[in-house]
Amino acid sequence: MEKRAIAIIGTGYVGLVTAVSLAELGHNVICVDIDKNKLNLLMAGKSPIYEPGLETLLVQNLKSGRLSFTWNHRQAIQNADIIYLAVGTPSLQDGSVDLSYLMEAAKEISLSAHDEIVVVTKSTVPVGTSEIVKKFIEKHAVQPINVHVVSNPEFLREGQALQDTFHADRIVIGADDDVGAKILMELYEPLHLNIIRTDLRSAELIKYASNAFLATKISFINEIANICERLNANIEDVARGMGSDSRIGTQFLKAGIGYGGSCFPKDTNALMQIAGNLSHQFELLEAVIHVNNRQQSLLFEKAKTRFAKLKHLKIALLGLSFKPNTDDLRESPALPLANKLIQDGAKVIAFDPVAYEKGRKLLPDEVKVTDDIRHALQEADLAFIVTDWDVIKDFPLALYEKLMKRPVIFDGRNCFALSEVSQYAIEYHSIGRQSIYRLKEVSLKRQTMKQKTVSSINFLTT
Ligand code: UDX
Repeated sequence: MEKRAIAIIGTGYVGLVTAVSLAELGHNVICVDIDKNKLNLLMAGKSPIYEPGLETLLVQNLKSGRLSFTWNHRQAIQNADIIYLAVGTPSLQDGSVDLSYLMEAAKEISLSAHDEIVVVTKSTVPVGTSEIVKKFIEKHAVQPINVHVVSNPEFLREGQALQDTFHADRIVIGADDDVGAKILMELYEPLHLNIIRTDLRSAELIKYASNAFLATKISFINEIANICERLNANIEDVARGMGSDSRIGTQFLKAGIGYGGSCFPKDTNALMQIAGNLSHQFELLEAVIHVNNRQQSLLFEKAKTRFAKLKHLKIALLGLSFKPNTDDLRESPALPLANKLIQDGAKVIAFDPVAYEKGRKLLPDEVKVTDDIRHALQEADLAFIVTDWDVIKDFPLALYEKLMKRPVIFDGRNCFALSEVSQYAIEYHSIGRQSIYRLKEVSLKRQTMKQKTVSSINFLTT
């Protein structure tokens, strides 16, 4: 394997995971970023994001000397033969993509790169952007240059990004000439993964199409869940029955309170824009986004239907990150939910085992934040489960029952089996399943049992 000199522009989630993985494969990787605080952390071997396994690989590859960081673009770019673009491509107000960071990076390449280089677009970009980047670099290049552009989208899930890198279902390599594509194929060869070779535009579209399709699966199953509730059917059984058809597949059929995160909301909106710009109304995707927005307020609506007033109630908001094993709160359903509860006059105490610090900065001041689940549940009237962290799923139901003042749970992630919940004096509302109103029933039963025990003791003593 030829050892490559690789520069990565942008040390966000995608850039950092890519950098660490390529260094681990034995290449020399230098990362550049404009955020000096972040770079200082990284140079000290500290990961600015919570991602299982990432910090270990970071430290290992810093020590080996294969991985380094700089804020000097020239230093990173001038000796690299492969340059990855991994800068952010955030959404603009209208849902379109902000390419300003990407074009800044292209400008830096044009100033410092020379001879033959491969530029890899890792950032998610609208179809046609890689061609624009190539033309821009060629036009503004200060030194003679031969640019090969490759689109190599990422499909990493937060929380399992390293697993997804080293054991990906596929690697997409899109290029309109073979030179850059061949170099990237060789780069990834040691991973022995399925490589899909396409043209530039198709590769760029694969990313949007994949995320839009996964979002569609989620909104579809959420709609089936809503029907299940009205029919007294059980969404878990329905999803299991559907998913065992290999044409449908079991994954991404978990009903809940909607998708969040940095990718699905952004990419579905961007694809809507892309279609709109081509005078095509993507009606299906429009519905997917609409269903998701509605689904995100489902728990709140359920609580409002059940208890007309939430004012003065103490509410435990369990989980802040958009999914477990990440501290990412982007587009998390927890944020709008917390805002609604506060607006309704509830007293909210939010718990997250990892994202509590970030949560504190993003939630309204009125929300108390803790990393102790017991503290959140103590004397709470209601609990809302937003994220299916293990610590929430594994927290004994007996303790939910014991710690809460009135154990009523609105579970947006179906963390508990109905058969299990029904053994406790808990009122339980979940997604796509029947509600359980055992609160009174079980307490009454226990009271009667207690009375019986007392009277039998009385009987024995008299
Ligand atoms: C996603 C894609 O999976 C990844 O390929 C892409 O490159 C980046 O975006 P990520 O956002 O990290 O990854 O999370 P993912 O595990 O895909 O979940 C996204 C959202 O969908 C989460 O809010 C999750 O809770 C929700 N989801 C997922 C469901 O509601 N039901 C499911 O069955 C699966």
